[in-house]
Amino acid sequence: MKTSGTDERIKIAVQKSGRLTEHSMDLLTRCGLSYSRGKDRLICYGENMPIDVLLVRDDDIPSLVQEDVCDLGIVGLNIIEECSLAMRADGETRLFERVTSLDFGQCRLSFAVPRGTPYQHPDSLAGKRIATSYPRIVAAHLAQHGLDAKVVVFSGAVEIAPSLGRADMICDLVSSGETLKAHDLQEVATVLESRAALIRTPIELGPEKLQWMQRLLQRIEGVLQVKESKYIMLHAPRAALKEITALLPGSEAPTIMTLEGTEDKVAVHAVCRENVFWETLEQLKEAGASSMLVLPVEKMLS
Ligand code: PRP
Ligand code: ZN
Repeated sequence: MKTSGTDERIKIAVQKSGRLTEHSMDLLTRCGLSYSRGKDRLICYGENMPIDVLLVRDDDIPSLVQEDVCDLGIVGLNIIEECSLAMRADGETRLFERVTSLDFGQCRLSFAVPRGTPYQHPDSLAGKRIATSYPRIVAAHLAQHGLDAKVVVFSGAVEIAPSLGRADMICDLVSSGETLKAHDLQEVATVLESRAALIRTPIELGPEKLQWMQRLLQRIEGVLQVKESKYIMLHAPRAALKEITALLPGSEAPTIMTLEGTEDKVAVHAVCRENVFWETLEQLKEAGASSMLVLPVEKMLS
């Protein structure tokens, strides 16, 4: 297997401007990366870690990682899927690997028709002209249902295709639904649920780069965990301890401490790997817990 060249800095490809940009940069900042932006504004140079961020078109991210120009990429599952299908069709082996799903960029790839058009999924797809930037996914969907339709490829502004008379319907990303509404289109069926994901090159890295890569991946994992995690402290009657600890969401072994001067009560501290909602606190109170405090967790490393 080929190993990466002399460049010991990790390169991460991130969407230049779009729904993932801000969240992606925020994730890296939370991992402790501080950076300065290059003159061309297309590269952010890491100042405190050997990590640089390349700001590129999201559609280019899988190939950049595939070709080992970048070691990591943050990109939507929609792009990963389209790109994987294209590679398969070209007889190319997909080399990049998905490391983890991220907690932002949720959207869906859906079919939409001009408002008021009668539509029955999937049969109504037959014989239609469908405008999309995801021709492979749409073709695969049609094949899966054994239907024939004409896929019209648009690289952007897919929503205007029906009003231009270029298509009967579209297949595009929907998040809030505002874009469809603005173009008098109606969502009729979802093809793919998407969110951001982290991909990496399978190319072996040199020892120093590998160490930084492992560090970064561990920090990303930590950031993802921390967002949901809470530290909870409460007082519990000894007799209700079992019931109370069972109510703590996603906690492993809690710490139990005696309370000075009392025999029948203990203090319980636990890290909950899920958010703690009011309902849980109310149930805990009913079970006998008191003096409850829920604190955010700032950093986590396991
Ligand atoms: C998608 C899609 C729509 C919009 C839908 O574009 O093409 O234009 O988002 O979002 P809404 O339902 O919240 O209105 P995106 O911003 O991902 O850009 P791109 O597809 O051109 O990369
Ligand atoms: Zn795009």
